[in-house]
Amino acid sequence: MRRLDGKVAAITGIGAGMGREAARRFAAEGAKVVGCDIDVEGLEETLSIVRSEGGEISGSAPVDAGDPAAVAAWIDGAASTYGGLDILYNNASIQRFGAIDEISVEDWEFAIDMELNIVFYAVRAAWKHLKERGGVIVNIGSIAGTRGVEFMPQNAHGAAKAGVINLTQQLAVEGGPHGIRAVCISPGFVETPATKFLVDSPPPPLKATWDRIPLQRVGRPDDVVNAAVFLASDEATWITGINLVVDGGGSVLG
Ligand SMILES: NC(=O)c1ccc[n+]([C@@H]2O[C@H](COP(=O)([O-])OP(=O)(O)OC[C@H]3O[C@@H](n4cnc5c(N)ncnc54)[C@H](O)[C@@H]3O)[C@@H](O)[C@H]2O)c1
Repeated sequence: MRRLDGKVAAITGIGAGMGREAARRFAAEGAKVVGCDIDVEGLEETLSIVRSEGGEISGSAPVDAGDPAAVAAWIDGAASTYGGLDILYNNASIQRFGAIDEISVEDWEFAIDMELNIVFYAVRAAWKHLKERGGVIVNIGSIAGTRGVEFMPQNAHGAAKAGVINLTQQLAVEGGPHGIRAVCISPGFVETPATKFLVDSPPPPLKATWDRIPLQRVGRPDDVVNAAVFLASDEATWITGINLVVDGGGSVLG
């Protein structure tokens, strides 16, 4: 038995980064993965990678998970193709950064929409399917959701991710009686296409922060996805409402 054998997993943003890694690992652990992305090429590449590794996957693109109607159609399609839904993995987000006196109202609203509302839209669409046989929602938060972050002005990002962490707790309470678990994983800095520019710029602007990480390296997508596999599996059936920080220990420092 693999750890996610037979489970139907809908994952947003599988076209790159941690979403791609999640698609690979969930499929390798026996899940039937249904992905979406706004990026057609990225999604197609992920489908070929997963299939070449022997995994079962399908996907739709372009699907904007920040569009309530589009995400509902994608989730209903996944549930009808596979006869139900067991896991909703809210990975996708798009950030907007700007100092508090410079960020525009439009950018602030975009960030809240694409980092917090995006999770609500998918959960709202998935809830009726998850209620049918129980299931789990895996949300991706951030260390910026529970503390101030000294690099880059993360006001909108942090506020949105704080919302995701709290929404997870509320979903755990509302979902418990229906056998629905909700968990959040909050990564520290992880090298992905979204963050590579920070790793590549000479000298890396975050070097001083990275040097203080107790485990002495930045994160890799599999660090986060390993936690997600466990939390989505039946090994975690009495775990709900948590925010699991995966950051090499960085956030325990004062
Ligand atoms: N990389 C980090 O250091 C870090 C740290 C903390 C939290 N996170 C969170 O982890 C998650 C994944 O981040 P990543 O670094 O792997 O990003 P990434 O940009 O490498 O990958 C994100 C994928 O999601 C897709 N996507 C974005 N918006 C979408 C939308 N509206 N609808 C459908 N698809 C969409 C993108 O096209 C891309 O393929 C995000 O929620 C991010 O906020 C990342």
